[in-house]
Amino acid sequence: MEKLVIEGGLPLSGEVKISGSKNAALPILAASLLTDEPVILRNVPILRDTTTMIKLLKSLGKIVEIDGDRVKITSNGKTRHVAEYKLVSTMRGSFCVLGPLLAKLGKAKVSLPGGCVIGIRPVDLHLKGIKALGAKIQIDGGYVISRAKKLKGTHIYLGGVFGSSVLATANVLMAAVLAEGETVIESAACEPEIEDLSNMLRAMGARIRGVGSPRLTITGVKRLRGVSYRVIPDRIEAGTYILIGAATRSDIKLRGADITHLMALTDKLKEVGVKVTAKRDVVKVKCKKNYNPVSITTYPYPGFPTDLQAQFMALMTIVEGVSVITDKVYPDRFIHIAELNRMGANIRREGINAIVQGVKKLKGAQVMASDLRASAALVIAGLAAKGRTEIHRIYHLERGYELLDKKLTALGAKVWRERE
Ligand code: EPZ
Repeated sequence: MEKLVIEGGLPLSGEVKISGSKNAALPILAASLLTDEPVILRNVPILRDTTTMIKLLKSLGKIVEIDGDRVKITSNGKTRHVAEYKLVSTMRGSFCVLGPLLAKLGKAKVSLPGGCVIGIRPVDLHLKGIKALGAKIQIDGGYVISRAKKLKGTHIYLGGVFGSSVLATANVLMAAVLAEGETVIESAACEPEIEDLSNMLRAMGARIRGVGSPRLTITGVKRLRGVSYRVIPDRIEAGTYILIGAATRSDIKLRGADITHLMALTDKLKEVGVKVTAKRDVVKVKCKKNYNPVSITTYPYPGFPTDLQAQFMALMTIVEGVSVITDKVYPDRFIHIAELNRMGANIRREGINAIVQGVKKLKGAQVMASDLRASAALVIAGLAAKGRTEIHRIYHLERGYELLDKKLTALGAKVWRERE
């Protein structure tokens, strides 16, 4: 196992290239199951999570070739219908093979993904939507076993206790594109990753209206064709680098980002004292001398993303004054508080809120990565802190940040890996 060592407190400069979106690429890779024709994807980030999805596609019978950020998926027409526990249990994103397998083969047996440190993460909405399309569902031995001779279009309300669901929308959408007749998904997730999936499906011949809105109307088609498609930039990676610039008071640039997906972040950062501007796909971060504490509450898109909550908290730890952070998508996603406090932050949890009392400086420490975005928060804190930070269990970071240490080194950070 490796740890990440950071010598903090250095200003950064230069430009960082933003990779393709992990959370768009995962359902888009799964959508290749909807056709036997070749699917060519570009701008796919090669990370632990996308590699797991590729392994899953191979285990289902697909042939996958990777060349840089280009992934070619072909088929010998013999797709299997069983997604095994050992792959699905390591990554929740793999559960979104359920919709396409069922639509294409009329049957699917997909392991239940289980919870994780950010919350219980149920799949009731996925199952509700798939059932509404006429599939029979049974849970047996930890697997969802579903069958449908022919899926039938219907009107589905997909909102849950915490609002819309990204992957439930992806699953139901991918099942509906090959269903008979019209399906309307109300309270569909509006995340750019779902918009990207919809655009890819349309390029394959699917008929979808209302793309990017909470009401998706799908008219089923008999078959989908192959496609060549470019995945959108990763808004969460971009947001993380913007917050790295802000926390280290560095005027850095990002290339290949789409700032229109990050309005909730850039608007809050303006209040903090960080200006983020963009010309085409080049984003500039400009930091003021004095920062203001700012409170945030996360919501589904276009609200402030839960996937940037921990990183924003890392910034607020070094902004004097009080800020309140609330996560309305994953109310328990606060595992990073204890680790940030080890570095000298002053954060306490009160019910669903985290109260951050800003301090002048953080100090490097030994900390533990617990999940992907919590780990990114520790990287931000480590880069801004005085002295040496060691982040253990960095495999969490490898799930979602492509070439993180190399990109940071290119910005002038002192970051390296060491064996534990
Ligand atoms: C996606 O997970 C992302 N994963 C997550 O990113 C992200 O945090 C999350 O959306 C929210 O934006 C991928 O895209 C692969 P949800 P997903 O269903 O779709 C509840 C990261 O760090 N819910 O939108 O699984 C759920 O518990 C990861 O990159 C139900 O109640 O999340 C949560 O409170 C982590 N029933 C809320 O809805 C369900 O059936 C939103 O979750 C499904 C979800």
